[in-house]
Amino acid sequence: MKIPKRIEPLVEEGLVDSVIGQLMNGKEAMVYVVRCGSDIRCAKVYKETSKRNFRHNVSYTEGRQIRGSRGARAIRRRSYFGRLAQKEAWQSTEVDTMSRLATVGVRTPKCYNFFEGVLLMELITDSNGHVAPRLNDVILTADLARTYHNFLIRQIVRMLCYGVIHGDLSEYNVLIGAHGLVMIDFPQAIFAASNNSAARMLKRDVDNVTAYLSRFAPELARTDYGSEIWSLYQRGKLHLEVNLTGNVEEKIKPANVDSVLSTINAVLRKELAWQRYKQERWTGRQLQY
Ligand SMILES: Nc1ncnc2c1ncn2[C@@H]1O[C@H](COP(=O)(O)OP(=O)(O)O)[C@@H](O)[C@H]1O
Ligand SMILES: [Mg+2]
Repeated sequence: MKIPKRIEPLVEEGLVDSVIGQLMNGKEAMVYVVRCGSDIRCAKVYKETSKRNFRHNVSYTEGRQIRGSRGARAIRRRSYFGRLAQKEAWQSTEVDTMSRLATVGVRTPKCYNFFEGVLLMELITDSNGHVAPRLNDVILTADLARTYHNFLIRQIVRMLCYGVIHGDLSEYNVLIGAHGLVMIDFPQAIFAASNNSAARMLKRDVDNVTAYLSRFAPELARTDYGSEIWSLYQRGKLHLEVNLTGNVEEKIKPANVDSVLSTINAVLRKELAWQRYKQERWTGRQLQY
């Protein structure tokens, strides 16, 4: 097909030879299948900020390290340079996160280049060499749904062990490749330690994949791996081989009524004493005049 304008710089640089076709026009990006020498790869072209939507809010960008203090200052001031720096930070988060996670056994596409707002990465294919379907595109047996669920929960644990939460994990961002599941779409990934919404996002990622897979294996709907994983993480007890049950112990103890009543009485006694003291001082002052 005709080379799209945004891919032209990569052709000029010799990174891409030709464009085979458009794969998706997604929420945040357009994805193309491209030829690079003898390889077929995937080119993700990020949309302009104005055409993108929900994920650019503060809960995703909080705690991110922006390269260079000038960039960080400009982002805070929301200047033109700031918006540009923010856009670059958003896009480079995806390539940085995927490259780092790939080295620690998280299944993501291999990244080759990030140039002029285009990410060149491995094209995930199925066992016939066709572009891999998303989890959302297939009907699963209960057994396969359980296997996939277990795999994704372990991948979520693995990411969190290295400090990262995907932040938009769902049946739309998991591909079924020839060698198993592969997670994609990381520009909104967050660092768990420096983001106040981390617990909520981790639980949402777990809930999304659980809700989808429980359509095929209904018992999964009764699990709560999100709370369990977060609780272990907070207590410093999360590790790669951690044993998970999917249950969270009820931590609610019956209220101790006697102790609640005695606290209320103590507050009342203090308040009465204070009123009495004020009354006495007031009367005393009147007597002085
Ligand atoms: N590496 C890849 N290999 C195969 N297909 C991909 C790859 N990356 C993205 N896609 C396809 O493109 C779609 C959009 O990509 P994604 O990274 O999820 O961007 P968006 O933010 O637009 O959702 C995906 O749902 C998937 O079908
Ligand atoms: Mg996506």
